[in-house]
Amino acid sequence: MSLYPITNLNELPPGARKLTTIAGKPIGVFNVNGQIVAIQNLCPHELAPICVGRVDGTTLASQPSEMVWGRDGEILACPWHGWEFDLLTGQCLTDRRRLRQFEVKIIGDDVFVEVYS
Ligand code: FES
Repeated sequence: MSLYPITNLNELPPGARKLTTIAGKPIGVFNVNGQIVAIQNLCPHELAPICVGRVDGTTLASQPSEMVWGRDGEILACPWHGWEFDLLTGQCLTDRRRLRQFEVKIIGDDVFVEVYS
């Protein structure tokens, strides 16, 4: 396993993302409300480049006839079919599939991702 430098925190403010390729793997690194996460840029449904999808919130469990919005900035929607994934856990909101996640290390202000190469 190797640590790869991605960017520094000043260049990845909350809500920002950076797309890169490490050891042949397409990877997206996101600042999710201050938490840095890294995922493979492949949707587990039909392999879309999911990291170019919209980041937003989603509707939350609520009472009948109510619509409650929440989790702003934590949900990534696939650009092909709109499946939603929790960026913090990788879990799809409507299916058992999940995004492949990578370990992130912050050293000083620099962001690194651990990848088996
Ligand atoms: S390819 Fe991502 S939801 Fe279909």
